[in-house]
Amino acid sequence: MVKAVVAGAAGGIGQPLSLLLKASPYIDHLSLYDVVNTPGVATDLSHISSVAKIDGFLPKDDGLKKALTGADIVVIPAGIPRKPGMTRDDLFKINAGIVKGLIEGIAETCPDAYILVISNPVNSTVPIAAEVLKKAGKFNPQKLFGVTTLDVVRAETFVAELSGEKDPAKTVIPVIGGHSGETIVPLFSLAKPSVKIPEDKLDALTKRVQFGGDEVVAAKDGAGSATLSMAYAGFRFAEKLLKAAKGESGIVEPTFVYLPGVPGGDAIAKETGLEYFSVPVELGKKGAEKAHNIIGQANEYEKKLLKACYEGLGGNISKGVEFVANPP
Ligand code: NAD
Ligand code: LMR
Repeated sequence: MVKAVVAGAAGGIGQPLSLLLKASPYIDHLSLYDVVNTPGVATDLSHISSVAKIDGFLPKDDGLKKALTGADIVVIPAGIPRKPGMTRDDLFKINAGIVKGLIEGIAETCPDAYILVISNPVNSTVPIAAEVLKKAGKFNPQKLFGVTTLDVVRAETFVAELSGEKDPAKTVIPVIGGHSGETIVPLFSLAKPSVKIPEDKLDALTKRVQFGGDEVVAAKDGAGSATLSMAYAGFRFAEKLLKAAKGESGIVEPTFVYLPGVPGGDAIAKETGLEYFSVPVELGKKGAEKAHNIIGQANEYEKKLLKACYEGLGGNISKGVEFVANPP
């Protein structure tokens, strides 16, 4: 029996993500939690003839605890999204507290669950989650993941637009670092099978992956940020993790992890000078079973991108750690 929980389930990401999870054969029980509208969303999804049993909870009557009880995997897209002119860091003020509260609930009720953090700024909310879990004595770094899959999905899509490849997902493109602007580093030189990016297109392609979120925010014109593509990406990562947990081997996906707690992560932490970083991670029953250090294989162009990434990401991480150490 696998129980999945979505926290923030009534939102722009939460609803389509819950739909995909409800339809997944890897999930037997899906609980939805949000501060509004979960009874409606759960009732709507309950009419779908898939195997997963579904229920929905609000904060009243100990709803968070009820939703989280027995959870094997908790996906968190709770929190406000950007509007034009905002950075992801501008979301910190509100979303830091939301993520902290939800992780406290997880630490108390289902500390052994895989935790997938979507809420922005991911570069800071994942360190917040880790610090809250550490404080509660419940931190298992192999089970905490910042979801950066949308960056990978974008890289696959934009490269296929250039290469003409019919099925974009057939090309594996590692995207590493963090999840905002210049902290997002696509390594096109390591694509498998290899892709030839014309030199005059490389800067624009790199920027499009790094700032793909802004493209959606601008197009939505005040109505939020990526929701449907994020639901797809979040589901893709969650399902890969569940498949790996069931024993399927060879599943590797980039994700933002606490490096010192993941096998293979120490060397990457040393090289980057950072404790958190997204790298291709081998998934398995334990969660993050091996972090792959591919940084040394980056070409000169990508090494320059990595330098800018390290500079920005360090501050984002410290901000999250500090938020829990010295609450405002
Ligand atoms: P949204 O406003 O449509 O939905 C957010 C939901 O969270 C709402 O239903 C709200 O009621 C709920 N919520 C607020 N406080 C809560 C709490 N304490 N507990 C439970 N639920 C709570 O926003 P969205 O478009 O779905 O985006 C959600 C978050 O995901 C944003 O922070 C956004 O920046 C982020 N995001 C991340 C990625 C990524 O790649 N990691 C991609 C897209 C969006
Ligand atoms: C994205 O990459 O689309 C998300 O992080 C949302 C945003 O604020 O851009």
